[in-house]
Amino acid sequence: MTTMHAAHGPIGLFDSGIGGATVLAALHQQLPHADLVLLSDQARCPYGPRPAAELVRIALANTRWLLAQDARLIVVACNTASAAALDTLRSRFPDVPFVGMVPAVKPAVRASRRRAIGVLATPTTIAGALLRDVIAQWAGDAHVVAQACPGLVEQIEAGELDTPATITLLAQHLAPLRHAGVDTIVLGCTHYPFVAPAIAQLMGDGVTIIDAAPAVAQQVARIVASRGTAAVGRGSIRYITTSDQHRYQRLIERCGLPPGQVEHIAPLDIGAQPDATINAHRSE
Ligand code: DGL
Repeated sequence: MTTMHAAHGPIGLFDSGIGGATVLAALHQQLPHADLVLLSDQARCPYGPRPAAELVRIALANTRWLLAQDARLIVVACNTASAAALDTLRSRFPDVPFVGMVPAVKPAVRASRRRAIGVLATPTTIAGALLRDVIAQWAGDAHVVAQACPGLVEQIEAGELDTPATITLLAQHLAPLRHAGVDTIVLGCTHYPFVAPAIAQLMGDGVTIIDAAPAVAQQVARIVASRGTAAVGRGSIRYITTSDQHRYQRLIERCGLPPGQVEHIAPLDIGAQPDATINAHRSE
């Protein structure tokens, strides 16, 4: 079945938390006219430890909510959810353009002079098939250190971007990258750009840090341009949380994000199992 969605509505994004805002900020810079709605599902943050089947149900619920806001395009602004659910989203909503996150191994290998790169991501992304495939496809003979960073999303969600606890945690996660002499680091989680300055300081000069958000924003810009809607909107931003609105507001300020309207919604119903929720939706 086809999905009716507005051609002139906002661009929707979702993530487990504030990480999606790194993509929102890049999009706002790339497409200043576009209206943007970010659903930060902080009630279920982190997504990392959740099984793939649950992530699919969460992603379906988030997508439906964004479509109910008239979203004309949806950015899965989370590496973990992209790896688990992007294929399902595209097949369930064939008329909706989706853009997802893929660890930026290809540009990192191109940028690396020593042909040694590091990938930082959530444990789920590090263990997943998507990263394995991307490395197999693009790394060639480059040495890749894939490092899971448990606890880092939680530190960032707490607004601890450069506290001693966060620096200690980062130093632990970065140690294998330093040992391997990497000169390029891929941020494989949309939360991590908020600690890029701390990573740069710990790794020292000569290390390039790659955030996929600007490339994703360019991809979105190409899609909206091809649909003739690049100039649509008033440049409004809505930040939606499924958890504490005041904490979210403080985090948005702490992270230096563009101003917008901050709202709270109740955690979305993701159903007991996929088919029960999918069949209930009008547009599938
Ligand atoms: N920003 C999400 C990502 O890119 C965080 C995942 C999580 O909530 O564990 O992977």
